[in-house]
Amino acid sequence: MLIPSPTIPTNKPLIAVLQAKDTSRIPVWFMRQAGRYLPEYRTLREQAGNFLDFCYTPSLAVEATLQPLKRFDIDAAIIFSDILVIHEALGLKVTFEENHGPRITPVTKIEDVTSLVFKKEKLLPVYEAIAQVAGRLPPSVALIGFAGAPWTLAAYGIEGKGSNDFPEARKMAYGQPVLMERFIQKLTDAVIHHCLAQIEAGAEIIQLFDSWAGLAPVSLWKNYIIKPIKDIVEAIHVRYPYVPVIGFPRGIGMRYPDYVRGTGVDAVSVDSYTSLAWLKNKVPLPLQGNLDPAVLFSNTYGITSEVERILREMRGAPFIFNLGHGILPSTPIAHVAHVIETVRKGI
Ligand code: CP3
Repeated sequence: MLIPSPTIPTNKPLIAVLQAKDTSRIPVWFMRQAGRYLPEYRTLREQAGNFLDFCYTPSLAVEATLQPLKRFDIDAAIIFSDILVIHEALGLKVTFEENHGPRITPVTKIEDVTSLVFKKEKLLPVYEAIAQVAGRLPPSVALIGFAGAPWTLAAYGIEGKGSNDFPEARKMAYGQPVLMERFIQKLTDAVIHHCLAQIEAGAEIIQLFDSWAGLAPVSLWKNYIIKPIKDIVEAIHVRYPYVPVIGFPRGIGMRYPDYVRGTGVDAVSVDSYTSLAWLKNKVPLPLQGNLDPAVLFSNTYGITSEVERILREMRGAPFIFNLGHGILPSTPIAHVAHVIETVRKGI
């Protein structure tokens, strides 16, 4: 857990909430804030060719990172990249097919794990992009680096594609825990390197996306969810004690307090299925998120009531306004702007 540092003054509201639990201004940003809902992103995407080349071309990744900031009054930039770059750097073949999402060579047996070798240099363009973004941000905007959490990365690696329920990954998690743990260990080591290198390049905060945490077997979740995150948080804090780590364990329900205690994260991003009013009394850390991405498809009434509900529930507590999951591709841009205006207006 972070020791608040009164000696590091900050003019960045997001860092103020994370480090000093300062509640005077509620920062706002959106998971997946760069992406297809922005026409300027779609234009850039056409120039880029395949998605991973896009991620690995610093000039394009920098542009995509900055696009949402040009449109919206938000408090953070999140580096444009993807959680699946880790698989590529470990030697698995990763492709993104139009309208089908990612495809990855599936990991099915122990040799598939033992043969993985982490090629750190593959990720150098990500760090180059971070360094360039860091030099171009307005002074109040914080730069977020990120990685997928090992369980979620393992789920994609085993399934070989996106899924809503990851049956192959869960089969392996229950039936071959040793293989699963070895894969998770390899991923953990790679994620630690990736997070440290992002911080060295200029990332001020790290978010760990465990989008499929809710699918991990509850009986084994200490091995698959808690331990890897704890190891990553410790490795970051040994080198960079003042860099906050935000965990995003989507779908773990009543286990959020255990997650916070067990992992040592500095803040937790909350999905849309969990009550903030309940959680805020159980967790003494800044909370983030909770707005259902589907609210952005409703209307001014629906958006205003949900944003105000969240502001009411979190009044007086350290909070970062965000969604409960990533922004969806067909989200109306005007509705994103309305969320921000409502947060800025306050209650
Ligand atoms: O947040 C940001 O703006 C930064 C960039 C970012 C992307 N992916 C870019 C992206 C971040 C933080 C991610 C995280 C990510 N990637 C997660 C965790 C968050 C979540 O949404 O659950 C996951 C599970 C992935 C894996 C992934 N990447 C999938 C399943 C897909 C295909 C489905 C989809 O959302 O399009 C991607 C592709 C991807 N990653 C796109 C973007 C902008 C769309 C690619 C395109 O333009 O075609």
